[in-house]
Amino acid sequence: MRAVVVALGKIGLPIAAQLARTGHTVIGCDVDARVVDLVNAGREPFPGEADLAEVLADVVGRGLLRATTDTAAAVATGPDLVIAVPPLIVDAAAQPDFSIIDAVVADIARGLALGHDARRRTHPPEELITVSIETTLPVGTTRGRIAAGLAGGSGGLVPGSGFHLVFSPERVFSGRIFQDLATYPKLVGGLDAAGEERGAHLYEQFLPGVEVRRMGGAEAAELTKLVETTYRDVNIALANEFARHADALGLDVQRVIDAANSQPFSHVHRPGVAVGGHCIPVYPRFYLAGDPQAQLPAVSRAVNEAMPAYAVSLLGDEVTTGDRVLILGVAYRGGVKETAFSGAFGVRDELLARGLVPVAADPLYDAAELSALGFEPWTPGSPVDAAILQADHVQYAALGPQDTPGARVVVDGRGVLDATAFAAAGVPVRRIGRP
Ligand SMILES: NC(=O)c1ccc[n+]([C@@H]2O[C@H](COP(=O)([O-])OP(=O)(O)OC[C@H]3O[C@@H](n4cnc5c(N)ncnc54)[C@H](O)[C@@H]3O)[C@@H](O)[C@H]2O)c1
Repeated sequence: MRAVVVALGKIGLPIAAQLARTGHTVIGCDVDARVVDLVNAGREPFPGEADLAEVLADVVGRGLLRATTDTAAAVATGPDLVIAVPPLIVDAAAQPDFSIIDAVVADIARGLALGHDARRRTHPPEELITVSIETTLPVGTTRGRIAAGLAGGSGGLVPGSGFHLVFSPERVFSGRIFQDLATYPKLVGGLDAAGEERGAHLYEQFLPGVEVRRMGGAEAAELTKLVETTYRDVNIALANEFARHADALGLDVQRVIDAANSQPFSHVHRPGVAVGGHCIPVYPRFYLAGDPQAQLPAVSRAVNEAMPAYAVSLLGDEVTTGDRVLILGVAYRGGVKETAFSGAFGVRDELLARGLVPVAADPLYDAAELSALGFEPWTPGSPVDAAILQADHVQYAALGPQDTPGARVVVDGRGVLDATAFAAAGVPVRRIGRP
């Protein structure tokens, strides 16, 4: 098949590479000319994605993948499948801003109009171009906003006769996308049965051995992504409540959770200082927008958003006004250079509210980047009064008291520090739910 992938980011580029490595001809589209140039040179534009560099070099070298900034022209070539995975921007309250999605939809619509007559001459009528949206969206967006945008922008082509439209949520974890694409069932929901079947058939062409599950409609596919992410947020909130209760009882919550999970009906997640990133703090809000009667997702968000302040409270009496507290890790999780909804912001704000002086360090960010994010960069080796580990960077597993000089107490918000090394130097390490 021939395919177009629009938005060559952390998700879109590995999808384009997956299509190409399974033998299909792919045009990748991105507004960023730097990204396009690097892809055309067979080089990855961002680090950290397993096997992407090798696969890109191979498929670009074999002429199976090329990139362009002109999405409409790429779609006008009449591919079988157009996959779009542009980012959906949200504000601090997780309210969506559809401007990038709308721009991508407008480009695809122009391409559909330009290529429509030529494709009709070369393909049977049932083999319509199939547009698949993979960006996580509020339920109803595909059938509503996206379909209307494609119809309006293409001069009146409509789903079912001018093109097919499906929603297929991206469920991968960046860093191991090829592995996840080869493992998780791919969910496809269409606007009608024929479109859904065609979309599912096309996905089967480049996900060999993977179950492609027909969802019976775009809304079911949209809701599934919100359900799996909301489930995780609610589950983590429950783990956080268990952790706070364990603290009060003087019990080790991890021991309790591990024991509870040793039978098959219990799947309690891990407590921690924060739930960050683009997805888990955001999609429960999309869910709640569609189901305002729901209580658990709203309460769970409040529980999880209170965790940075709870972590700061574990510093206890060892700190007083004016003390310097080192935040270890501003990234929302270990190994990823991304601060969307990072717990570091909540930790910083709570420290400030208590009259403490936050300074920050992160192996993935230099001093200028930390300043730009609103953190005072810590000068390595300079004394601090306390430290709070916020991100589980692998480097932190080996930290010892010499790395937090002067600290009288350390809060380990992710349970990754070697507490014995600190204890040997007389520095208590406090963990959430693990006295
Ligand atoms: N990153 C993840 O771990 C993850 C996981 C699951 C799902 N998702 C979904 O994937 C979506 C995209 O995430 P990402 O991490 O790939 O984003 P990203 O920020 O890495 O990449 C987005 C890309 O879109 C491009 N772009 C912006 N406007 C464009 C336009 N008008 N036309 C063409 N390209 C345009 C940008 O230049 C950039 O290269 C998310 O919104 C989310 O719904 C992401």
